[in-house]
Amino acid sequence: MNLVQQFNQIRDFLNIYHFLWKNEILNHYPNRFPDFFEAWVDELMDFSDEELAQLEGHYQVPTRASDELKKYYATICELMPIPIFEFTPQKLQLVKIKEKKEHELQGVAELMKELKFQRVIEFGGGVGHGGEFLSEKYSKEVISLDHNEYFQDLGRKRLVKYPKEIQLIFEHMFISPEQLRLKNWMNKDVEALCLGLHACGSLSNHLMDFFHESKASYLLNFGCCYEKYETPVNLSQVAKKAPLPLTTEALHFAARSYVPLTQQDIIERKKVKHHRYLLQFYLAQKNLAHGPQTLGSASHEDYQLPWADYANKQLSKLGFEAANRAELTDFAAGVNQQKLYYRYFLAGLLRNALGRLIELYIVLDRAMYLEDLGHEARIYEVFDRHISPRNIALLAVK
Ligand SMILES: C[S@@+](CC[C@H](N)C(=O)[O-])C[C@H]1O[C@@H](n2cnc3c(N)ncnc32)[C@H](O)[C@@H]1O
Repeated sequence: MNLVQQFNQIRDFLNIYHFLWKNEILNHYPNRFPDFFEAWVDELMDFSDEELAQLEGHYQVPTRASDELKKYYATICELMPIPIFEFTPQKLQLVKIKEKKEHELQGVAELMKELKFQRVIEFGGGVGHGGEFLSEKYSKEVISLDHNEYFQDLGRKRLVKYPKEIQLIFEHMFISPEQLRLKNWMNKDVEALCLGLHACGSLSNHLMDFFHESKASYLLNFGCCYEKYETPVNLSQVAKKAPLPLTTEALHFAARSYVPLTQQDIIERKKVKHHRYLLQFYLAQKNLAHGPQTLGSASHEDYQLPWADYANKQLSKLGFEAANRAELTDFAAGVNQQKLYYRYFLAGLLRNALGRLIELYIVLDRAMYLEDLGHEARIYEVFDRHISPRNIALLAVK
């Protein structure tokens, strides 16, 4: 499948399930889902945790599932594959670096092997692990742009502690098209490779526009945190013809997709959702609040508490008076609440299956946008998704 075909097929499939991805699953409460979807939730009610982990993490459906449910997952599996960039991991000469970052840098370095560039400009370089490694490996200058001075200071201190013969320059900048033009970056970058290693949200768009407008030769970008978009998602001509109205909620779960979950992960997730969803039902039934509330982060320990204690903690955070503990305990013990929470949990799993397709929609749109601008663009799955699930590289050449 070429970029356009894959994009169009993903768009058409996602269009069918607009009701499912446009909002968080709890936004449906207390309404029913469409009948066919309620029937899928019924089916999942008797799946074991292991089967749910296979479904969520590996898009595998038990053989006893209905043909419709099988078709849903089979279509997702047909639409997902992109070319895989294989590489053999080799130990890097970097001290104090996490396994995830090491794996990512191995993949990036292998992808860059065949490219001829004079320097690297990293957008959102953070503490500069990428810059440090790539400058040493290729004996080239790396300019690491970031707006977070704290990260950049950590990177400088690291180089004082573990000195190296490298050309790594930290440049403090809030990257925007205006800033890049103002600082005259567009003209500086002859034979540069513009790199984004998990360039969040709009940063990826700024990277693409910079690549186009400057004299840079290559773009290599991995996106993440799609919900941080301030600039439009549907960029290419193909997308503009029939754009999907992607919501922040859709972008949010796309950025968390493709994680190969285990049975234990499912058990942990159930605990979290049980507590959060019951609280939501309680707030709605007591007319205290409707729709999903932003609860902030609760600790792992909070989710191990009896629900009544968790609920009172959250009620106080939300500015409500504490409720009677016995009343809360009764509420949580109700068969209807328990069944309802579980149905929403399962509906959420069915929704999560669409996350990777939304991510692909975004990345394919970016690739087609670069082609519209006259560049050659390709996408590859590079990192092992067990280690780094935001693993799609967009590579463009002038
Ligand atoms: C997900 S981190 C990736 C950091 C690094 N590339 C890595 O692989 O570890 C994204 C980085 O982009 C930076 N960033 C995001 N938006 C930015 C912007 N508009 N201007 C400058 N830096 C930005 C953040 O401060 C953060 O350091």
